[in-house]
Amino acid sequence: MTARPWLLLLGLAGVLLRVRGQSAPDSTGFVSIDCGLPEQAGGYLDATTKLPYVPDGAFTDAAGSNHNVSAEYITPSFSKRYLNVRSFPGATRSCYTVPSPAPAGSKYLIRATFVYGNYDGLNQLPVFDLHLGVNFWTTVNITRPGTAQIAEVIAVAPGESVQVCLVDTGSGTPFISGLDLRPITNKLYAQANATQALVLVERCNFGVSDLSLVRYPEDPYDRVWIPWSDPGVWLEISTPEKVQGTADLRFHVPSAVMQTAIVPRNGSRTIELLWDAVPNHAYREPGLIGIVYFAELEAMAGGALRQFEMTINGILWSKVPYTPKYLISDIFFNSEPHQGYGGRYNFTLNATANSTLPPIINAAEIFSVVSMANAATDANDVAAMSAIKAKYGVQKNWAGDPCAPKTLVWDGLSCSYAISMPPRITTLNMSFSRLSGGIPSYFANLKAIKYLDLSYNNFTGAIPNALSELPFLVVLDLTGNQLNGSIPSGLMKKMQDGSLTLRYGKNTGLCSNGSFCQLTQTKSKSMLAVYIAIPILAVVVTGLLAVLLLLRKRKQKGKGSVKPRNEVGGGDDEHNMLHLDNRRFTYRELEAITNNFKTVLGQGGFGCVYDGFLADGTQVAVKLRSQSSSQGVREFLTEAQTLTKIHHKNLVSMVGYCKDGEYMALVYEHMSEGNLEDKLRGKDHNVRSLTWRQRIRIAVESARGLEYLHKSCSPAFVHRDVKTSNILLNANLEAKVADFGLLKAFSREGDTHVSTARLVGTQGYLAPEYAVAMQLTEKSDVYSFGVVLLEVITGQHPILQCPEPTNIIQWVRQRLARGNIEDIVDARLAGDYDVNSVWKATDVALKCTSQASTQRPTMTDVVAQLQECLELEEHHCI
Ligand SMILES: *[C@@H]1O[C@H](CO)[C@@H](O)[C@H](O)[C@H]1NC(C)=O
Ligand SMILES: *[C@@H]1O[C@H](CO)[C@@H](O)[C@H](O)[C@H]1NC(C)=O
Ligand SMILES: *[C@@H]1O[C@H](CO)[C@@H](O)[C@H](O)[C@H]1NC(C)=O
Ligand SMILES: *[C@@H]1O[C@H](CO)[C@@H](O)[C@H](O)[C@H]1NC(C)=O
Ligand SMILES: *[C@@H]1O[C@H](CO)[C@@H](O)[C@H](O)[C@H]1NC(C)=O
Ligand SMILES: *[C@@H]1O[C@H](CO)[C@@H](O)[C@H](O)[C@H]1NC(C)=O
Ligand SMILES: *[C@@H]1O[C@H](CO)[C@@H](O)[C@H](O)[C@H]1NC(C)=O
Ligand SMILES: *[C@@H]1O[C@H](CO)[C@@H](O)[C@H](O)[C@H]1NC(C)=O
Ligand SMILES: *[C@@H]1O[C@H](CO)[C@@H](O)[C@H](O)[C@H]1NC(C)=O
Ligand SMILES: *[C@@H]1O[C@H](CO)[C@@H](O)[C@H](O)[C@H]1NC(C)=O
Repeated sequence: MTARPWLLLLGLAGVLLRVRGQSAPDSTGFVSIDCGLPEQAGGYLDATTKLPYVPDGAFTDAAGSNHNVSAEYITPSFSKRYLNVRSFPGATRSCYTVPSPAPAGSKYLIRATFVYGNYDGLNQLPVFDLHLGVNFWTTVNITRPGTAQIAEVIAVAPGESVQVCLVDTGSGTPFISGLDLRPITNKLYAQANATQALVLVERCNFGVSDLSLVRYPEDPYDRVWIPWSDPGVWLEISTPEKVQGTADLRFHVPSAVMQTAIVPRNGSRTIELLWDAVPNHAYREPGLIGIVYFAELEAMAGGALRQFEMTINGILWSKVPYTPKYLISDIFFNSEPHQGYGGRYNFTLNATANSTLPPIINAAEIFSVVSMANAATDANDVAAMSAIKAKYGVQKNWAGDPCAPKTLVWDGLSCSYAISMPPRITTLNMSFSRLSGGIPSYFANLKAIKYLDLSYNNFTGAIPNALSELPFLVVLDLTGNQLNGSIPSGLMKKMQDGSLTLRYGKNTGLCSNGSFCQLTQTKSKSMLAVYIAIPILAVVVTGLLAVLLLLRKRKQKGKGSVKPRNEVGGGDDEHNMLHLDNRRFTYRELEAITNNFKTVLGQGGFGCVYDGFLADGTQVAVKLRSQSSSQGVREFLTEAQTLTKIHHKNLVSMVGYCKDGEYMALVYEHMSEGNLEDKLRGKDHNVRSLTWRQRIRIAVESARGLEYLHKSCSPAFVHRDVKTSNILLNANLEAKVADFGLLKAFSREGDTHVSTARLVGTQGYLAPEYAVAMQLTEKSDVYSFGVVLLEVITGQHPILQCPEPTNIIQWVRQRLARGNIEDIVDARLAGDYDVNSVWKATDVALKCTSQASTQRPTMTDVVAQLQECLELEEHHCI
């Protein structure tokens, strides 16, 4: 008595079946696709429905291949649609995109058909998944090679197209024979909405013993009503009279379906129907929805009564005994899916004691529900990615939605997934992708992007200014192209305020080789040439030019000019330059500024740092070279030279300089809150502790400064003396890395490390490979920064006396082995922090301080990770 699966029967039956009705009602909006039909073959009218079928080429850009099914499976009754398939070997996801014939948000019946027919000669029946857009639809399990299997779903299309994807799950190559799209009135099937779809299990037309299908045109939505009978058990009854439609406009059933019905034989007073949901890996026990249709087909003689009760899995469904109406359709349905009972839907009709006639049933539909709640990627992001994909003919796995589902994200992308928001693309990496021509504007349409890597392609022409309008862009890598022209002002500005890291080395037309950041090619020797946008640098350049040139000559490096020009500046810059030229100080002026070197702020690498005030009241810090140290000259020059070259929000910047006889000094912006070491445990120790949020923000900012030294400078710089006392804080507690006196540049491109003759740096912060083998790379700074981070977390010294001298890394590792983060966190935080944020920061710190330099992250990674710590903390509520 179990309902039999009809899916297997439909295909072969295709032509044998008689379709009732010959009129041709409106089929506007139907899309009928014969998959694998060669383009040149053109379309045709289906023999049964007279609906036009078209080849599939226009609906897919997947690299599938067309095949004919094996001749042994072809019978005269075979529908033309099943003669050929398109298969998708080697592709994880292959999609058909059908432009929505109805407005966005419309409801559709979508039907995919599959006849394997040993098209590949392998005689292996595949199993694969179907997705509707970004949501799982069903698993297609091909069980018999010669018969059609059908997947059908009723769903609301989210956008302007309907996308059906075949997903390879490792159990054979996905293929498809046909795809039908039928718009249906939105009122129908209220259970299908924007977040839930109905996958057909069975659609039965009871009481038909021949093989007549009812479908289009009798069913205007081209639903296929399958004959369902078992003459041994059921008595078929029918009427030539039309049956009126239901009063409920949410349902529609063709009269032809209602004109036949079954009643039990042999005096039985019960009809029992069983449907089993088909579980799959996404839904172990799918919820079922049933819709049953009744109409009385026999005129009742006096005293006759047909009355019954309905139960589902033993639970009474109808509140009062039910009597069908004569020649009028009526329906019962679940609103909420029926769950449990092992996925079984046991629908029983039982005549009441008063009933003189057995129960009757005319038709039924059973669906399982699937969630459609996954949102597709933001439409603008999708449009931009589609344009990029089309322009460059990207193959990779770029099919379907770029970000969703998470398991099928396109290669080279990462996305953000916020709850109840469409995913957004945050990273696009197309390095080494052989892209050529101008950089297209599509990239600038990825409005949520943070990291854009277009390095090592063949891009030519200018950098589009539109890229500077990307509000969240943090890293733009254009290294290794053939770009020319100047760097757009918008990007320059973002670089200078530290919000953007722009990499553009190895672009012959953009920067002079090797030298740092010459913004444009020198075009003329105009006297009015305006120097770099940051006026301070202009001063330093003019002022220290002699020194620098001397130094360069001595080093015989033969680098290009360090005179960066900026065409995008204006007259104001020139004005500033003249104005700021006064910022070359004499020794006398320094005496005035510092009130005779009265207040010592600290001891730098080569001398004392004094507090001072400029005439206009600006507070500054003056670093005066100690005359006793010959080493100091070199460090001074290194630092002076460096400061002309680098400028970043998180690196301390220079206000002026002094070169007056033997006196040399650098004048910096004043960092009123002193250094991080003092803030953590020095003078300010007892005043007020930094909060976790402040600490982690300081960590992010100083990491950004270091990242800039490592990644945005050409050649790259290693700071060599990263420690908490070299991280300065301004009045807003913004962190800036200071003291570039020991800074070391990698002299040649391709050098991965430098061996330095002299060990410099500070005990407790030295990376093992540097301390032992004098090998210096950016990773040495990463190590030191890891120590800084541990100090930030614990408030401890890099070397603890407890009672043996122990370094902070060991100390933290030992204590963490007990699994308790509270054991290491600075007690002065008084527990006020997001635990996840602290854990994550600790994890980053421990990775940074890995013994092997290759296991340490880059500063770029560190910035990203710490940024997440900050976000965790900021979302933390007390
Ligand atoms: C499939 O069969 C058709 C007609 O029999 C034939 O023209 C076509 O070349 C075949 N295609 C392939 C890929 O074998
Ligand atoms: C496919 O169907 C066969 C036969 O019903 C069954 O044995 C097999 O487990 C199914 N495979 C999957 C992946 O569902
Ligand atoms: C869709 O229907 C389900 C089940 O009734 C309901 O939980 C969900 O909120 C509905 N979704 C929308 C978008 O109306
Ligand atoms: C019903 O009765 C017919 C003949 O009277 C018999 O052939 C058939 O097997 C019976 N069916 C059942 C389910 O008892
Ligand atoms: C179906 O439900 C009816 C009524 O609750 C019950 O008598 C019958 O045993 C059930 N059948 C199955 C197979 O569970
Ligand atoms: C069917 O109805 C009869 C008479 O009302 C009742 O005795 C019997 O228990 C019912 N059977 C089921 C399975 O509900
Ligand atoms: C059955 O018929 C009797 C007499 O007409 C009536 O009192 C009773 O309510 C009926 N039962 C049902 C379940 O309709
Ligand atoms: C982009 O991919 C290349 C390798 O294909 C890798 O070296 C590079 O680090 C990636 N860039 C980013 C930003 O992840
Ligand atoms: C890119 O440019 C290089 C050097 O001009 C050339 O050798 C290479 O073939 C180009 N590649 C592409 C894909 O255009
Ligand atoms: C940049 O290169 C493009 C083509 O590669 C060329 O047409 C254009 O004139 C160049 N512009 C400059 C400023 O050199």
